[in-house]
Amino acid sequence: MLVSGSLSTSWTAYLGLLSALSATFVPSVAVKEHDFKKCHQSGFCARNRAFADHALATTSWQSPYNIAPESGSFKDGQYQATILKTINDKGETVRLPITISFLESGTARVTVDEEKRQKGEIELRHNSKARKERYNEAEQWVIVGGLTLDKAAKVDYEDKTQVTVKFGPSSEFEATISFSPFSIDFKRDGHTHVKLNDQGLLNIEHWRPKIEKTESAASEETKEGETKEQDKKEKPKKEDESTWWDETFGGNTDSKPRGPESVALDISFVGYEHVYGIPSHAGPLSLKQTRGGDGNYQEPYRMYNADVFEYILDSPMTLYGSIPFMQAHSKDSSVGVFWLNAAETWVDITKGKGSKNPLALGTKAKTSTHTHWISESGLLDVFVLLGPTPKDLTARYGELTGTTAMPQEFALGYHQCRWNYVSDEDVRDVDRKMDKFKMPYDVIWLDIEYTDEKKYFTFDKHTFPDPIGMGKQLDSHGRKLVTIIDPHIKNVDNYPVVAELKSKDLGVKNKEGNLFEGWCWPGSSHWIDAFSPAAREWWASLFKYDSFKGTMENTWIWNDMNEPSVFNGPETTMPKDNLHFGNWEHRDVHNLNGMTFQNATYHALTSRKPGELRRPFVLTRAFFAGSQRVGAMWTGDNQAAWDHLEASIPMVLSQGISGFPFAGADVGGFFGNPEKELLTRWYQTGAFYPFFRGHAHIDARRREPYLAGEPYTTIIGAALRLRYSLLPSWYTAFRQAHVDGTPIIKPMFYTHPSEEGGFAIDDQFFVGNTGLLAKPITQKDRVEVDIWIPDSEVYYDYFTYEVVPTSKGKSVTLDAPLEKIPLLMRGGHILARRDIPRRSSALMKWDDYTLVVTVGRDGKLAEGDLYVDDGESFDYQAGQYIHRRFVFDAAGKSIVSVDAEGRSAKDVQEGEWMKKMRQVGVDKIVIVGAPAAWAGKREVTVESEGKTWSAKMEFTPAMKGRGAFAVVKKLGVRIGADWKISFA
Ligand code: GLC
Repeated sequence: MLVSGSLSTSWTAYLGLLSALSATFVPSVAVKEHDFKKCHQSGFCARNRAFADHALATTSWQSPYNIAPESGSFKDGQYQATILKTINDKGETVRLPITISFLESGTARVTVDEEKRQKGEIELRHNSKARKERYNEAEQWVIVGGLTLDKAAKVDYEDKTQVTVKFGPSSEFEATISFSPFSIDFKRDGHTHVKLNDQGLLNIEHWRPKIEKTESAASEETKEGETKEQDKKEKPKKEDESTWWDETFGGNTDSKPRGPESVALDISFVGYEHVYGIPSHAGPLSLKQTRGGDGNYQEPYRMYNADVFEYILDSPMTLYGSIPFMQAHSKDSSVGVFWLNAAETWVDITKGKGSKNPLALGTKAKTSTHTHWISESGLLDVFVLLGPTPKDLTARYGELTGTTAMPQEFALGYHQCRWNYVSDEDVRDVDRKMDKFKMPYDVIWLDIEYTDEKKYFTFDKHTFPDPIGMGKQLDSHGRKLVTIIDPHIKNVDNYPVVAELKSKDLGVKNKEGNLFEGWCWPGSSHWIDAFSPAAREWWASLFKYDSFKGTMENTWIWNDMNEPSVFNGPETTMPKDNLHFGNWEHRDVHNLNGMTFQNATYHALTSRKPGELRRPFVLTRAFFAGSQRVGAMWTGDNQAAWDHLEASIPMVLSQGISGFPFAGADVGGFFGNPEKELLTRWYQTGAFYPFFRGHAHIDARRREPYLAGEPYTTIIGAALRLRYSLLPSWYTAFRQAHVDGTPIIKPMFYTHPSEEGGFAIDDQFFVGNTGLLAKPITQKDRVEVDIWIPDSEVYYDYFTYEVVPTSKGKSVTLDAPLEKIPLLMRGGHILARRDIPRRSSALMKWDDYTLVVTVGRDGKLAEGDLYVDDGESFDYQAGQYIHRRFVFDAAGKSIVSVDAEGRSAKDVQEGEWMKKMRQVGVDKIVIVGAPAAWAGKREVTVESEGKTWSAKMEFTPAMKGRGAFAVVKKLGVRIGADWKISFA
């Protein structure tokens, strides 16, 4: 990534440098791990881990947090009280107001603040201008609904030591709040599922003034510090103050004007062996333990959005984005927690039998998972979701943080990117070649080199003399252009954008309150502060077509480096004592930063021209809970290596179950040059990422899919066309994600929550509700694959209709030579495709559909749905869409299509798009596993819109393992109409 920082953009200089670089550049092995903190290098993490070590090793340990007697009251679904934290032997306490909200959805929320900071009764050091409160605005950015209090929640039992509240749908949930020490037990159906502070690790570092020490006191302390290992654990030793007041890492000092203020809590999932979520990490979907031991990590999972280029695999280290939502799963039961905190956060995970101490083995007890959440600052604010299914969790989480934005249809097509297409002629040429080689694609991308010397909102006049001509060529096939716009604004003269940022005072400030200056691609830069409403308004003005000259209606945006990446900053990001709008320290809002920027761009794209309103497309690298509402993400700078291909699947699955399913990895691998087999397998995998984009580093050789040569080009082309033919099904899956937060590709535990054998499987997945089960090949030279089968349904090979000899809970081995993507169709489903290969999704808009029915094991019902709208406007919100439900009923010998939402024709007034859709029909139905009794049948009866006619059917009997199938052609029914086909 650092290579291009110094690139001159003059075309000749660029070429010269490029050839010099490609001669000398050897991709470095991996991220410089030591550039990023380990827990022991992050003061608050180390302090809380030490606190935990002490608590867990001390048999008589008692958490010093107690609910003040008589302080509690319950009203309208909310319990409020004051926690007293005992801070010394003299019994002095600190007051921590707690609110427990029971929400209508059955979710409970526990919020703890600190009275002194809340009231501003603290002193800041270094004349800091920072706010005194604990950061309390994360909710404003993240939560969009689901906060209605459960007025039916009621106190079920109460005495001097505890209170029990019943809440949730039909009062099946229960929370017992114990006062001394403070803890909460969450029950469902009479059993405990989640416990807060059961291990006594709650720790809210209260405000205290800094006491300057005399030298002798300091040396006394050192002596005291020299205690034996055992004593260290057992005796409540003096707290380690060394990181309270300032902290230095990699030459950068954090001034910490508010002193120590971390919040930490242990959350136990009782009887749960698997936990998932808290992306993004490059590791298995089922999270590992983090306190050492065979195969476990030594470090907690970290969430502190960072520009971790060339990241290492199988690691809990932080990556570019964070979603602090975790779900625990055991046979037939799922529960979850959402830790609403945008500061640097670490999560330790241990598993064990017994409740308080995970290391104490009780023989009968079930394994439980204990987690320890540690954030640097802010409120303690945690939502507890009691399930019971994975789908309930994603739906409840979606209510709170919003669901994936309904994308334009083009965004589900293939995206062709590299750093960089070097001129408008280069773009036009790639566009023509993709056509020549019959490679469908929808979007071509421009990375940073298109700009005039890294000044965003400009095109380099030498290399891109005619961006509009280029845009028009793309548009002639319905294609789009995505240009990159980063949050750092080049600090040079004669650049109106930076001049305005300065004069309007819209940038992030340093700790002194002056405009922050740092280094990124352009060299010296300032950063837009997208937390500021005025800055967002200004940002919107920059995207107007007459401001960002060279862009047009088919231009969309890529937001990168928004962690933010600051090359000369601590851990390649901003100093924590920088100040944002409202004088909140960067420390408080760090993980939100990327989302506020993407959000600003999303809104900017809705106001480029009066009257023009289409669904924006914005890709982001940094993200947080809620980012799903404004675009797509990708997993950052991976490598052209087999293990990175393999790692991409659990990473994308993890995004999906964590509410942000519009996700993908750079196809081909960003750094390095993939061998052709790897590139081919990566396209076959990428065709199943919700976000499907090929991308490459500036030093990587050109690798547009048509360059691969035979047989690779043909095989990659087939993968692209497979993606395109299945677009109707992908779009339907996106609609589902948009409606209720369901992931787009689903891991086994999600679709089959009772099948324990699938809980740790993260290399295969189902696509939406199609019944398509994919297991892409991610290993070199592999020509067969084992697919784990979660149930007793019948499974057909997608391409051959072969009936795969499966048995529930076992793996089946399939041949998978290079040209083959292991893809099965589960019996009992109906999916929609469009079978005519075309150059882009826009050109397929008015094509007829093919339906594929897979007859299930019981030979009876098969079902599926199709959602379609105009693919670009917001008219779907006013009912302008078609949503069909197809049901095949073997007993009734029919297939019907009905409105999936029970709407009748008169419920929807047809707009222009719907009227045009009257021309679009179902061209063909393929019934895989068709009953043998149909042999000899040549015709079916079709009924629709008051008419009856017949259509031709061809039946092919089962043969050598291949299922029987029937094809009904030229049906003549409209996709939007009710119809019935009878096979009787
Ligand atoms: C970052 C991005 C990468 C991009 C590069 C140049 O490294 O992750 O995708 O190509 O910056 O903009």
